[in-house]
Amino acid sequence: MLGNFIYSNPTKLYFGDQAQKNLAEALKPFGKRVLLTYGGGSIKKNGIYDDVTAALKAAGKSVVELPGVMPNPTVEKLTEGVKAVRENGIDLILAVGGGSTIDYAKGVAVAAGYDGDAWEHFWVGQANPESGAKIIPVGAVLTMAGTGSEMNGGSVITNPAQKLKIGKVFGEEVMPKFAILNPRYTFSVPHRQMVAGIYDIMSHIMEQYFSGTDDNTSDYLSEGLMRSLITASRAAVLNPEDYQARSNIMWAATWALNTLIGKGKSQDWMVHMIGQAIGAYTDATHGMTLSGVSVAYYRHIMEAGMPKFARFARNVWDIPAEGKSERELAEAGIEALGAWIGQIGAATEISSLGVTEDMLEGIASATFIMPGSYKKLSRAEIVDILRESM
Ligand code: NZQ
Ligand code: ZN
Repeated sequence: MLGNFIYSNPTKLYFGDQAQKNLAEALKPFGKRVLLTYGGGSIKKNGIYDDVTAALKAAGKSVVELPGVMPNPTVEKLTEGVKAVRENGIDLILAVGGGSTIDYAKGVAVAAGYDGDAWEHFWVGQANPESGAKIIPVGAVLTMAGTGSEMNGGSVITNPAQKLKIGKVFGEEVMPKFAILNPRYTFSVPHRQMVAGIYDIMSHIMEQYFSGTDDNTSDYLSEGLMRSLITASRAAVLNPEDYQARSNIMWAATWALNTLIGKGKSQDWMVHMIGQAIGAYTDATHGMTLSGVSVAYYRHIMEAGMPKFARFARNVWDIPAEGKSERELAEAGIEALGAWIGQIGAATEISSLGVTEDMLEGIASATFIMPGSYKKLSRAEIVDILRESM
């Protein structure tokens, strides 16, 4: 296990098919004024809104509602949230939704305590809040599994005018104080979003797995999570109301990106960087942007990380090593990944997401190049990967 690190995660999780019953109790330690933020209204159709408002009432909170958080939340929406927090002297932001709503709540929580241009400072500039800066506590009720936002410090914001989508990973002080995880809440997620979430989880694990050459406990944890996810995804695609499958997916999502499996490792994240740039150009669903470029990307870097790709084939996809060279095995692993993407119905080509030939250079320029992967890409290589993914 290489690397020196600190591991601490302050988010208290309430998990299970009655998890919402803990919400009133979870709300208690916080002040009276709650900003209840949610998305486009799905929570009003599936009953989650009623559960949440009943708990807020039972906890004696006064509530200001901020609906309309869009998938891929924008910087304009962020400004609206900051205004709502300041005008109402908010004590807690309660985010009810998927990654977009929870990311948004974290962004507002930090931006409300900063007087300058929050987008420039925290997202473009990647600054951390000053020590002692006011950060509004965030609580989460998760309605869709995928991003891991319920137990991490990530906040991804899109600036449509600048064609930039940028993630800022804040520290412990911004992570949700608590999260309610009821797998049954995810039953009403539209099939395409469920699949996008599943692929997002897989991608988070692979971004942390495909790096380093040492024998590292984190990689074994990752393999276990990937195996569980693949098994559960096959069941959930056949029957979205399979509680066992949906609960495993939800739990895998949380552990895929709550910092644990990246400990003691460099990390890749290039699939996400390319995916985010695609998102900035097309507003496409996050998980689909990742599935659309993954196979081309991994084929491109395979040579530089061959033993790990061979291990991926053996330990994640159960591909027998006998009679195969390391290269053949590595290739078979990537092929299995591609086949699974097709089986679950995730995007296999980015042209289906609205990417057109004339966008490729711009998307490549909007892609941040990260240093931790097996092979540091050039801009021209990103264009090649995008072209192969069309
Ligand atoms: O807006 P509503 O009406 O709630 O509908 C949402 C939305 O249309 C719907 N949905 C969610 N739960 C539902 C439901 N519909 C019916 N029943 C339910 N129970 O699903 C749609 C997508 O929701 P969204 O929150 O956008 O999805 P997701 O959880 O995939 O979040 C995506 C955002 O998270 C960012 C992405 O970039 C994107 O902006 N990410 C955040 C990360 C983090 N915090 O660490 C990491 C990820 O890599 C990712 O970048
Ligand atoms: Zn993701």
